[in-house]
Amino acid sequence: MTRVFSGMQPSGDPHLGNLLGAWVNWVSMQQDRECVYCVVDLHAITSPTEHDPASLAERTVGLATGMLAVGVDPQRSILFVQSHLPEHAECTWLFNCVAGFGELRKMPQFKEKSAGKGDSVSVGLFDYPVLQAADILLYHADEVPVGDDQRHHIELARDIGQRFNHRYAAPEDPVFPLPKAVHPPAAARVMDLQEPTVKMSKSASSEKGIISVLDEPKRIEKKIKSAVTDSAGDIRHDREGKPGVSNLLEILAAATGRQVASLASEYDGGGYGAFKLAVAEAVIELLRPIQARYAELAADPGEVHRVLEDGADRARAVAVPTLERAKAAMGLLPPR
Ligand code: AMP
Ligand code: TRP
Repeated sequence: MTRVFSGMQPSGDPHLGNLLGAWVNWVSMQQDRECVYCVVDLHAITSPTEHDPASLAERTVGLATGMLAVGVDPQRSILFVQSHLPEHAECTWLFNCVAGFGELRKMPQFKEKSAGKGDSVSVGLFDYPVLQAADILLYHADEVPVGDDQRHHIELARDIGQRFNHRYAAPEDPVFPLPKAVHPPAAARVMDLQEPTVKMSKSASSEKGIISVLDEPKRIEKKIKSAVTDSAGDIRHDREGKPGVSNLLEILAAATGRQVASLASEYDGGGYGAFKLAVAEAVIELLRPIQARYAELAADPGEVHRVLEDGADRARAVAVPTLERAKAAMGLLPPR
């Protein structure tokens, strides 16, 4: 069966973009694939400005709770916390000896995040994509569902896997099958409500443009009512000319499962007020069962910890033999 691996960092509250752009697909991929989902806390400590030691553990549990609340099914899929398996860090070391300085220096995310920081930038930030390659390759993942911004990281994982196989394994018996990035067709790209030309993101300057998965109905209504649109007053899809209205149309389509075109013709002519109200209602209804399930799980944190412990055991059962094989292939002496 096709094996899927994906991860999300426990930095910032999960928002509507994470839900519609990632989690909805994570949940549906469980139907016909073997899925491994990971809260990547080791990635979340690579940037000192985003890392808050006082809240990291809580955010880690919160993110796992969110994944369960949207429908990640721990009976079917493996859900675990990255730092619970030292194999990820250990495999990163092996890959560090395969990855090249030049290819890491060129990673767009590294260039962006290290810009202006000079020599104070951490080695962890530089090495971030190698840890990500370890995440993916340890599980022999075939498919990695990610946003488009992660494309280069998945390419690097392929390159590292391929180089490792070439150097240390026989061509007919590779240690690491090569993964590929997948961008599920249904994935929405949700834009910031206040600045509809940029992606809704945890690192946005203002809270007002972001709908958190746990926002209360009143707050959601307020944020959507004050979403930036334009002065034309018509409702049609045009990302270039009408980014605000187009974003709301896409959110409404994703939340209701309907087509953008049919929604546009239904609401056009009725004014932005009524349209925004409909979007707010749809988002509130979409989130209502998720929030209810989240509250249930949060009331019994022992249960989430049990799920994560079981997930770590099952992840270990896959990762440990892979790592052992990689170490043996590199010629390291096995302990007796
Ligand atoms: P991030 O929040 O950037 O760590 O991203 C975690 C996952 O959510 C990735 O798979 C992204 O593709 C997805 N994601 C993040 N923001 C958005 C957005 N505004 N629209 C759609 N997907 C998003
Ligand atoms: N870097 C990814 C992101 O920011 C998160 C991530 C870490 C990941 N390890 C992964 C995604 C492995 C897919 C597979 O979204």
